[in-house]
Amino acid sequence: MSHLTTARHSVDALTLEDKAALTSGAAYWVTKEPAGVPVVTMEDGPHGVRHQSAGDTPHMGIAPSEPATCFPPAVAVAQTWDPELVERLGEALGREARSFDTDVLLGPGVNIKRDPRCGRNFEYFSEDPLLSGQIGSAWVTGLQRSGAGASLKHFAANNQELDRMRSSSDIDERPLREIYLRTFERVVREAKPWTVMASYNKLNGTPATENHWLLTEVLRGEWGFDGAVVSDWGAVGDRVRALRAGTDLQMPGGDLGADAEVVAAIEDGSLDPAVLDQSVQRMLDLAERAEQARIAHPDTTFDEAEHHALAREVAGRAIVLLKNDEQVLPLGGTGTVAVVGPFATSPRIQGGGSSRVIPTRTDVPFDELRALAPDVDLRAFEGYRHDGTDAADLRQQAVEAAKLADTAVVFLGLTAADEAEGTDRTHINVPAEQIQLLRAVAAAQPKTVAVLIHGGVIALAEIAESVPAVLDATILGQAGGGAIADVLLGRVNPSGRLAETAPVRLEDAPSYLTYPGDQLHVRYGEGIFVGYRGYDHLRREVAFPFGHGLSYTQFEYADLQLVATPDGIRVEVAVRNTGSVDGREVIQLYVSKEGGVQRPPMELRGYRSVGIKAGETAHVTITIPRQDLAYWDIGLHRWVVEGGEYGIHAAASSRDIRRSGTVRLDGDAVRRPFTEESTVAELLRDPIGAAAIADIMGRNGNTQSVASQELGIDANKSGMRIPIGRLRTLSAGRYLPKAQLTDLLQRLNASRVESAQKGNRNF
Ligand code: BGC
Repeated sequence: MSHLTTARHSVDALTLEDKAALTSGAAYWVTKEPAGVPVVTMEDGPHGVRHQSAGDTPHMGIAPSEPATCFPPAVAVAQTWDPELVERLGEALGREARSFDTDVLLGPGVNIKRDPRCGRNFEYFSEDPLLSGQIGSAWVTGLQRSGAGASLKHFAANNQELDRMRSSSDIDERPLREIYLRTFERVVREAKPWTVMASYNKLNGTPATENHWLLTEVLRGEWGFDGAVVSDWGAVGDRVRALRAGTDLQMPGGDLGADAEVVAAIEDGSLDPAVLDQSVQRMLDLAERAEQARIAHPDTTFDEAEHHALAREVAGRAIVLLKNDEQVLPLGGTGTVAVVGPFATSPRIQGGGSSRVIPTRTDVPFDELRALAPDVDLRAFEGYRHDGTDAADLRQQAVEAAKLADTAVVFLGLTAADEAEGTDRTHINVPAEQIQLLRAVAAAQPKTVAVLIHGGVIALAEIAESVPAVLDATILGQAGGGAIADVLLGRVNPSGRLAETAPVRLEDAPSYLTYPGDQLHVRYGEGIFVGYRGYDHLRREVAFPFGHGLSYTQFEYADLQLVATPDGIRVEVAVRNTGSVDGREVIQLYVSKEGGVQRPPMELRGYRSVGIKAGETAHVTITIPRQDLAYWDIGLHRWVVEGGEYGIHAAASSRDIRRSGTVRLDGDAVRRPFTEESTVAELLRDPIGAAAIADIMGRNGNTQSVASQELGIDANKSGMRIPIGRLRTLSAGRYLPKAQLTDLLQRLNASRVESAQKGNRNF
């Protein structure tokens, strides 16, 4: 960015002490104000404002906060698959932040859901980097449009809570780029967050806050990030090393000894003054940005009812109809319904930890059902207790009521204590007494609907087998009760889609073998095969696949058209609503490619959520940008689009492909010089190399038939992968001795340069 700093706040005018002071907070949520630099207030985040009215608190940030709209947490937001809707949510969050004079709202969290057990998965979007990145981008764009800055977190590879302050996420270059950093890269490039939050964990052995490669080379150098890097709260171990790496602000503040260490390091020459000045400049820019936003958005207020309505809209769009046999749902407008389970009357709306918001009000599902369906005889039954004690009497009452009713709706799931920041889960099961209750109710009442409340993925196979209809409500924020009623009664036709695979067993998860790591090192051994990429590659059955979600209507896909353009692939498909009610379909595009580098069977490369009226057809165009087709090349250390044939699959989920086609793309120009490690096969693809190999083969007589007779091998096949630098030893010095090899390599590489000059890109 061009520096916004006015003369009033220039780096040069500050003393060394002032400079050091600017790079750590004053207290829990605010920066310091040396020499009149305006203070910046940062508060959690992400799905509502946690504004602590009593001012700043020294007690680990734990203090009562003022009511604010508790919007749906990230897990739900991602299930909308709708960046436009999320941008509106971001705008509303920005208005609320401004109304509390909060300059930076700490979020969104865009870490990949690598393992189902991560206690903070409810605060993250998806197992897929495209979906996470686009939803995250929309969130930041909306938020910042309203004049509040985002803090994109937790950078990077903070994918579990267990030992989050000291464990190292050990990730190979390709999965790091393609899966874990790609989300952050997209949001940084597209939405330009004011700040990025460096995470607690280490990345490949170096703490994120001290990781120069991550914060300076990649984030700033490659992606062009122009904001400030803020540490997660308590993530800085060594202040001077953190500054050197590119962490501009240590949070929370209050540790004046650390400022003195910075001053001392400058004075004894161990910290380059230019490094400090750079961070100070970025902090001045942040303060200036915040001040400009305060001026541009003075006296912001928000309408609680309007925001509650938006929270309900987003929540309704997030609910996933997992199963609906015999069209048990939607419920009719009359009859008797037994509503079972404590979540129906005492809702759970969010997860535990720093993101917890005090809502302005809370919709109770049972009351909302009553309000929307006055002619339905609704009765509430507890059915089970969260404390886990066997409540046979409660179960019996619920079963008897269900038997007499026309339909039973059973609320099941996890409490906030079961999944929260700072801890991971050890399993993904719903408490056994809840399953017992569900089975008993379903045995008494064939029309039983399960409504699931949970932040992280849960074991669904048994639940889905027990009942004809399942609604996945995750955790939906303060208006979730109304949204559940809307969907149960058909006022909202469900269109949520899973943003994370629901496995049959936890042990099926691709990360299972290496989570939670050993001796504080978590080796991301599944590589790029995260989430559905892994389940598909391993051909594992899943309870419900990534992208799954039903509707009260049906959609038919036709006329898939693919056009390769220099910028990517334009995909057109016609989607018809063949049912009798209006609905919304999420058209998903998966891409496959055979040959070349190793890849998952399919990867999400585009999607669009489209409302389609009953009987109508939507002609949907989705462009897959060429860059999104690239893989990370570990030899060249850069993105490369491979040439060849790509399979494009228009799908209703990752395992429900409706139309497929192929398209050919030219690859990127890649210059990989021949070396001693080039193989015989690679040489054969080049005319000069082929001639050299033919010469050797000519002198080689009957090796092929001897090999097959004596050793039972196909010498032709195995020989193809021999590096040419080894031919000499293998042939007792006969083939390609040193001088010949050097000469051959020179000729090969010279001809490649010539060929490139003539515009040939195919090598
Ligand atoms: C969390 C952050 C949060 C910060 C401030 C940390 O423990 O990891 O997400 O923004 O606290 O509450």
